[in-house]
Amino acid sequence: MDKKIGVKILGTGSYFPERILTNADLEKIVDTSDEWIVTRTGIHERHIAADNEATSDLALEASKKALKAANIPGEKIDLIIVATITPDMFFPSTACCLEKKLGLVNIPAFDLLAACSGFIYGIATAKAFIESGLYKTILLVGSDMLSRITDWTDRSTCILFGDGAGAMILSASEEDDNVLSVSLGADGSFGDLLYMRGGGSVCPATAESIAAKYHTITMKGADVFKSAVPKMVKAAEDAIIKAGVKLQDVKLFIPHQANMRIIQAVAKRLNISMDSVFVNIHKTGNISSATTITALDEAIKTGKLQKGDLVVLVAFGGGFTWGGAVVRI
Ligand code: UT7
Repeated sequence: MDKKIGVKILGTGSYFPERILTNADLEKIVDTSDEWIVTRTGIHERHIAADNEATSDLALEASKKALKAANIPGEKIDLIIVATITPDMFFPSTACCLEKKLGLVNIPAFDLLAACSGFIYGIATAKAFIESGLYKTILLVGSDMLSRITDWTDRSTCILFGDGAGAMILSASEEDDNVLSVSLGADGSFGDLLYMRGGGSVCPATAESIAAKYHTITMKGADVFKSAVPKMVKAAEDAIIKAGVKLQDVKLFIPHQANMRIIQAVAKRLNISMDSVFVNIHKTGNISSATTITALDEAIKTGKLQKGDLVVLVAFGGGFTWGGAVVRI
């Protein structure tokens, strides 16, 4: 019998735009306060892209760092996947835009849309491609520029989001198997709690749709919160069971960074200490598909994780979608 192909994580990288928008800055834009934002969300500041930056530019910088960490040339990549809900444009895909910016040609490239769970869906997709033998070395990116689809007059959403990108190189391996399990889920019946109506086939861009702000995020925050906690708990538990590991063997939990209170509630229900939960929401806000990978990259680069450590990544987002993954660094 053929030996199972393992999936090795060769390297990670992340990138945040230079400009920082603080809660004090937001106080000048909408009727809010630093105190409200910090107490209700845990966010202090977030990065906002420059006018001339595109989602693929953030992806490019994160990818270059991941390639450097992996110590491989771009030419080794044989598939590019970009998880995003804020593509450069409808088509060509942001993955194709990234391919061009990386100076690569003839490599298959596509975007993946699973909102804030996008990177976990991406890990599952990359794992399946590698294990099937179809591709050997995959560049997986989570890149989002939520500032471009934010209604800056809506205080209930504009305080939450930021911009950034993270990348991971995954490769076929005979020795290592770093992606132990993935567990994905979705329930489309909750689609009307978190969405952007405009721009697609249902509501193409018109002067009216723009005036009605259909090209920005609409969210029923409290309802999303209520579903996020149990779904993230279940996704983490399922991934841990599938991986055949014990909760106490996990070095670090990296949850989607949407709200500090969601993160704390998930930790409480999983019965884990906040000491083993990675949090960077205070300086990033919610960057959708980029949250888990940028947090993982920071945990690796700052020495919070060492080679061989077990990590649980878990996310929840529009759709609704959710997902968990157990990886060994
Ligand atoms: O990434 C995908 C997943 N997304 C999420 O997981 C987000 C989940 N939801 C949340 O994080 C929270 O629901 C929010 C942070 C969005 C809102 O927090 P909340 O505790 O659920 O507040 P709320 O929406 O129930 O609003 C409470 C009050 C309201 O005032 P009244 O009606 O009680 O007078 C809001 O108008 O807070 C008011 N409010 C604000 N006040 C000051 C809403 N936004 C603001 C604001 N500043 N920015």
